[in-house]
Amino acid sequence: MTAPARVAITGAAGNIGYALAFRIAAGDMLGPDQPVILHLLEIPPALGALSGVTMELNDCAFPLLHGIVGTADTGEGFDGVDYALLVGAKPRGKGMERGDLIADNGKIFGPQGKAINDNASPDIRVLVVGNPANTNCLIAASSAPKLDRRQFTAMTRLDHNRAISQLAEKTSAHSTEIARMTIWGNHSATQYPDISNCTIEGAAAADRVDDGWYRETFIPKVQKRGAEIIGARGASSAASAASAAIDHVRTWVHGTPDGDWTSMGVAADGGYGIEEGIVFSRPVTCADGDYTVVPDLDISDFSRERMNATEAELREERAAVEDLL
Ligand code: NAD
Ligand code: LMR
Repeated sequence: MTAPARVAITGAAGNIGYALAFRIAAGDMLGPDQPVILHLLEIPPALGALSGVTMELNDCAFPLLHGIVGTADTGEGFDGVDYALLVGAKPRGKGMERGDLIADNGKIFGPQGKAINDNASPDIRVLVVGNPANTNCLIAASSAPKLDRRQFTAMTRLDHNRAISQLAEKTSAHSTEIARMTIWGNHSATQYPDISNCTIEGAAAADRVDDGWYRETFIPKVQKRGAEIIGARGASSAASAASAAIDHVRTWVHGTPDGDWTSMGVAADGGYGIEEGIVFSRPVTCADGDYTVVPDLDISDFSRERMNATEAELREERAAVEDLL
């Protein structure tokens, strides 16, 4: 039998955690042949609720689920873990931007990064979901000196999926016919959803839509979709966020399809003019459990302006948490 993979979920009794744990246990993230042991982390006041989640997971009798560790202790929670999904953090309410959460949420990610550094598998892959995801990812990676920054990524797959869905609806295409969508920058209202390399059934997507719709409707719609959902639901996206987290890790581990790419928040390295020191979403291909930033894309003046705006916001977020880095 394949040895079980250890998967940690922080905030496992929260809304996203509740949607995530069952799908991971069912094999949606690592595949139908990979058993898993779930490490469910919570804060002490939520351990009662977490025990209920554990009971329900057990009651599913999932064939791939080979154990559950439920804990508020980060040492135990990240012990030997192969994949960590850092979800546990406050969500924003109506009228807030995600960056407003940095003072409360930023301090969660330093200790977790350190606990990952000290206890997890040296090959661990980390996905940060808790907002503001890019900067929390930067904090976690900075607290894990034994690990490579490339092992820490932030989630912009939800934005990527939202952009595909909006474009599919506008062009009467199916999401599976759309390739090479790109989200640049921050998981925030400054992100830049870019269709300039995007194809629909192999043909240029930009030729299928009006430039006015792209600039005035599509870009703001994707940028503000999280707030639209909070307005409608009274709570932030949960099932779609969990689904995107599963997509992110599955793609990282199992690879991108030929001819396509995905978007991931990854450590900036000077590529595309984005200097080190922030976590910036870029188009990546994945193979053999690793990612490669798509090289040599042409960047128009329009794109550069938007990339600069989202980079500036990330540099401001970084400045606000300099003491945590
Ligand atoms: P929630 O309030 O329903 O659940 C959060 C859970 O985290 C709670 O159970 C809480 O007890 C727990 N928690 C808090 N601090 C913790 C810690 N230090 N260790 C472990 N657990 C801790 O919130 P939610 O709807 O599940 O959202 C979680 C986070 O994900 C929020 O910050 C939200 O804004 C963010 N989010 C990000 C994306 C994205 O695309 N990156 C999408 C949706 C939501
Ligand atoms: C989202 O994009 O849905 C999440 O980041 C939640 C939020 O605050 O918008």
